[in-house]
Amino acid sequence: MHDELKKIEKAACDEIPGAKNRDTLDDLKIKFLGRERGALTLILRGLKNLPAPDRKTAGEEANRLRGVVEELVKKKLNELKKTELDSILKKEWLDVTRPGVKKERGSLHPITRVRREVEQIFCSMGFSVVEGPEVETEWYNFDALNIPKDHPARDMWDTFWLKTERGMWKVEGGTGKVFGGTGHTLRSTFHNLLLRTHTSPVQIRYMQKHNPPIRIIAPGRVYRYEATDASHDIQFYQVEGLLIDKNISIANFKAVILEFFKKMFLKEVKIRLRPSYFPFVEPGFEVDLSCIVCGGKGRAPRSLGEGGCSVCKKTGWLEMMGAGMVHPKVFEAVGYVPGNQQGFAFGVGLDRITMMKYKIPNIRLFHSGDLRFLKQF
Ligand code: PHE
Repeated sequence: MHDELKKIEKAACDEIPGAKNRDTLDDLKIKFLGRERGALTLILRGLKNLPAPDRKTAGEEANRLRGVVEELVKKKLNELKKTELDSILKKEWLDVTRPGVKKERGSLHPITRVRREVEQIFCSMGFSVVEGPEVETEWYNFDALNIPKDHPARDMWDTFWLKTERGMWKVEGGTGKVFGGTGHTLRSTFHNLLLRTHTSPVQIRYMQKHNPPIRIIAPGRVYRYEATDASHDIQFYQVEGLLIDKNISIANFKAVILEFFKKMFLKEVKIRLRPSYFPFVEPGFEVDLSCIVCGGKGRAPRSLGEGGCSVCKKTGWLEMMGAGMVHPKVFEAVGYVPGNQQGFAFGVGLDRITMMKYKIPNIRLFHSGDLRFLKQF
């Protein structure tokens, strides 16, 4: 029995420390200590057949040997765990001090930012935001706005007419829809089409479908067939405003617009109305805003040196929008009962507000696609 145990001890001391991995170690553990057929287990099980005195010594020795084997296994297991961890650490090593790779992030176009701001300001005053199509019929863009054919006022808007068969677009059977718009049914068969020259046709489309009271703004792109320069482009953005109710006066208009400019430029500002002509309003006016750079003084702020203010060209005022009280002819065109309502309308250039707000010197930068410009927003 003694020899037997010695043999087992030698085998365990030889084999266990050489185990290559956990599987082999498990196998070895079973080989020596396994509950069914482990070498030591078999010995211990055989003890009962020995004479009493031998049984005691052999029992003690076998138990000691079990302790030895268990110790060997434990030691080896710790060793294996450590090498496993080492190899994982080696494989998964990374330099946490390395600078990260920056993700490219897009940003909103400055006009989009300002459009959203305008919408938010007017929404806070109870206006809703509506839209109309950029491809318009002559009727919505001109006739309904009291600008009849051959009227000299049409020259105020240099127009991109759409070239179609016979210079016109056929709308089937009078039930066709103006593309992308509010789905108004056209009455006659042929309509000249154009790229809208202002957002005012959205007033018409909205009034056809809604009765007063009305409080809307309509932001969108408009087109003019004209030469470009630093402040003119063939496409730009307007925000149309329309408020209609009973007993609306110019005083209401002034209050709304002053509030809008204050919130937009975050400053105390002044406005002034100059008489002007638009066929769809009466009276009509041009709205000037006290210059937001020089504060209306016409001189350059001290920080900009001694020359006059270049933003307002030393006048102290900035031309911001056309506006007026909605003309009775317009109410007539949309089928309202005459005399039942009054309202004001205005059209403000989004590009211009954006240029003022961010001190952008050239309108053509907006569509330049120049990332050096766009990345600043
Ligand atoms: N539609 C006019 C323009 O584009 C601006 C305007 C709108 C004027 C509403 C008066 C009332 O020039």
